[in-house]
Amino acid sequence: MKSLASSLALLLCTVFGHCSKSPVCRNTPGSPGYPSLAAWHALNATVSGRLVSVVPSAKYCASLPGGACTDDQWTSALFRSTIPGAMDQVNWEQGYDLNPPSLCLRNATTCGQGAVPIYSVEAETVADIQAAVKFSSTHNLRVVIKSSGHDYLGRSTAPNSLLIHTHKFQNVSFTDSFSIGSENMGSAVTLGSGVYSHTLYEQGKANGKTAVGGAAATVSNAGGWVQGAGHSALSPTFGLGADNALEFHVVVASGHLLQVNHISHPDLFYALRGGGAGSWGVIVSATFRAFPTFNATSSIIVLIAENDTVASALATVHAQHIFDWDSVHAGQYFWSLKNTSGDGFSAFAVNTYMPNTTASQSMALLAPFLNASLALPGVSLLSQQFTYGDINDALYQPDDSVGSNVVLGSRLIPAAAYRDSPETIGKVYKKLLDGGATEILGHLVAGGKVAENAKISSAVHPAWRTAKTHLVVAGSWEDSASLAEIRQIRQFFQTVQVPILEEITGPNAGAYSNEADLLEPNFQTTFFGPNYAKLSAIKRVYDPEDLFIVGAGVGSERWDEWGLCKV
Ligand SMILES: Cc1cc2nc3c(=O)[nH]c(=O)nc-3n(C[C@H](O)[C@H](O)[C@H](O)COP(=O)(O)OP(=O)(O)OC[C@H]3O[C@@H](n4cnc5c(N)ncnc54)[C@H](O)[C@@H]3O)c2cc1C
Ligand SMILES: *[C@@H]1O[C@H](CO)[C@@H](O)[C@H](O)[C@H]1NC(C)=O
Ligand SMILES: *[C@@H]1O[C@H](CO)[C@@H](O)[C@H](O)[C@H]1NC(C)=O
Ligand SMILES: *[C@@H]1O[C@H](CO)[C@@H](O)[C@H](O)[C@H]1NC(C)=O
Ligand SMILES: *[C@@H]1O[C@H](CO)[C@@H](O)[C@H](O)[C@H]1NC(C)=O
Ligand SMILES: *[C@@H]1O[C@H](CO)[C@@H](O)[C@H](O)[C@H]1NC(C)=O
Ligand SMILES: *[C@@H]1O[C@H](CO)[C@@H](O)[C@H](O)[C@H]1NC(C)=O
Ligand SMILES: *[C@@H]1O[C@H](CO)[C@@H](O)[C@H](O)[C@H]1NC(C)=O
Ligand SMILES: *[C@@H]1O[C@H](CO)[C@@H](O)[C@H](O)[C@H]1NC(C)=O
Repeated sequence: MKSLASSLALLLCTVFGHCSKSPVCRNTPGSPGYPSLAAWHALNATVSGRLVSVVPSAKYCASLPGGACTDDQWTSALFRSTIPGAMDQVNWEQGYDLNPPSLCLRNATTCGQGAVPIYSVEAETVADIQAAVKFSSTHNLRVVIKSSGHDYLGRSTAPNSLLIHTHKFQNVSFTDSFSIGSENMGSAVTLGSGVYSHTLYEQGKANGKTAVGGAAATVSNAGGWVQGAGHSALSPTFGLGADNALEFHVVVASGHLLQVNHISHPDLFYALRGGGAGSWGVIVSATFRAFPTFNATSSIIVLIAENDTVASALATVHAQHIFDWDSVHAGQYFWSLKNTSGDGFSAFAVNTYMPNTTASQSMALLAPFLNASLALPGVSLLSQQFTYGDINDALYQPDDSVGSNVVLGSRLIPAAAYRDSPETIGKVYKKLLDGGATEILGHLVAGGKVAENAKISSAVHPAWRTAKTHLVVAGSWEDSASLAEIRQIRQFFQTVQVPILEEITGPNAGAYSNEADLLEPNFQTTFFGPNYAKLSAIKRVYDPEDLFIVGAGVGSERWDEWGLCKV
């Protein structure tokens, strides 16, 4: 409910032009303060013609010769990154909740603007970013920032907004001695905020180095990834992305470019490392620790379980063996994927990275788990593959397969739960599968160095430091789903799955803010834990007018779902 005072302020502002310093709503097309066409043209001139109109990806595809994108294009994250309005999970381009709903579905004959921005500054220089930031605050516009468009919470798009797109910031530079003041921080790599993780691995290999980065091909390490915490198969060895960040260059709401590190603006440095993507300013580049490259064995083992009872027994066995690989600081992704075409079978895939470990050593470390799994009635081995070589090659992926409608929910699972009660983990898998979950994605990306790094003062949720895994449940739908069905799937994590996961974690557990549910009711504690009050205070210093608001981000409790009006 709007308060009387804010309604009055809105009336004074819209009818009499007496706009207070903090208006209730941002300007949108049709409101008196919205920039004129001449003002947009002036911005376009300032940014050297890099202001573009934005359309949803389906409309962009319809404008191509032939009138459609191929399936390969539609599902390619690299292709999508060339479309300013595209999100990788296309549901975020839709305005399901707008009144009336505004949709733009693939191959549809009609198309609304959905939840995509109106204009984008396809920034190439710091000055472009500064011009877009200043224009937005002068004209009280809704701003969104996007690098890759990977965001699982849709935080890099919003209706009626101006997009600041940092995709073109593709510089990568390695150094053996990165200085902060007079301090030599050693080997480091500076990444522009458009650099894909696979570019880091490619350049790392060329330079004999590596760094902590995402498992995907096109996630932007210096964009949303590091601000959320940033997990990696190398996290048990080297810590989280945020733990390895040394410095940022950021354009803040005032339009100033700040150099941010442990000496310069240390409060903002704290916030940028785990305080949530998109809430602090526009990152131009981030510098991370780099390490000499090394060889590793990466492996993938695919098991088949005959039914959900067997799949959950397999999850218990996996939980019982999860500490087997600690001696080599392994990182691992483990998925339970149900065969939705109805035979009741599911796959359990285990993808493991073991630094400085040969293939035969790696097989030996995985053998007890594999043996115990195959000893279960109803489990069979579909395939296994072990590859030894440069870690950069192991982590390199050519592209990400995206372009569908996906929402996630997640919890960080404490190491203590694995130690004390691995059977509970299996039981929870059973309940999730029985309840209709088709994908349960496990990430063994904590423990080891992530736990040791508990002493670092940053906004990383302390639940990361005691976690063993990050467990994600995905929901998806086809374009043919009705709005009611979509609403139900979007709410499924909160209504059905959280109470099940709490059988492992207890109430008030933490979650990884980058791979989570936008609709978390207590996002402040779930995503930021005890750090929220400090983050709110830092936000008031660097973004006093709430220029940078994202869903479930710091300060978003003051705004509606779209970040358009104060509540
Ligand atoms: C296929 C896939 C695989 C993934 N794998 C991993 C993984 O291995 N490890 C992991 O930790 N996470 C992973 N993620 C999650 C990933 O960390 C988040 O999606 C993250 O938000 C991506 O950041 P981005 O900048 O690439 O995405 P975007 O959608 O471009 O942006 C995400 C958020 O960051 C903000 N942002 C983007 N650019 C900037 C900038 N220049 N300055 C300030 N804010 C900015 C946006 O406003 C938005 O809030 C994966 C996601 C996908 C879809
Ligand atoms: C901005 O200017 C460029 C170059 O003149 C032009 O191609 C583009 O259409 C303009 N953008 C908008 C939104 O008008
Ligand atoms: C859309 O059109 C493309 C190209 O004609 C086709 O490959 C694809 O299957 C269609 N997709 C849907 C969802 O209709
Ligand atoms: C990228 O690197 C080039 C060459 O070193 C430099 O001229 C340019 O300013 C850099 N761009 C950014 C945004 O840092
Ligand atoms: C899924 O089940 C269907 C129907 O029983 C079967 O034909 C198909 O091979 C199964 N797929 C996998 C990946 O097991
Ligand atoms: C791998 O082994 C080399 C040689 O012993 C060592 O210098 C390096 O630190 C190790 N790297 C990792 C990630 O364990
Ligand atoms: C696994 O089983 C095989 C054959 O059943 C056996 O040879 C091997 O020793 C077992 N390994 C472990 C680690 O239990
Ligand atoms: C699941 O499969 C196992 C192994 O084949 C079998 O013993 C069990 O009865 C099956 N359970 C159900 C519910 O089908
Ligand atoms: C890494 O593995 C390659 C073979 O893939 C080998 O040629 C190279 O010597 C190994 N490097 C180290 C440091 O062991």
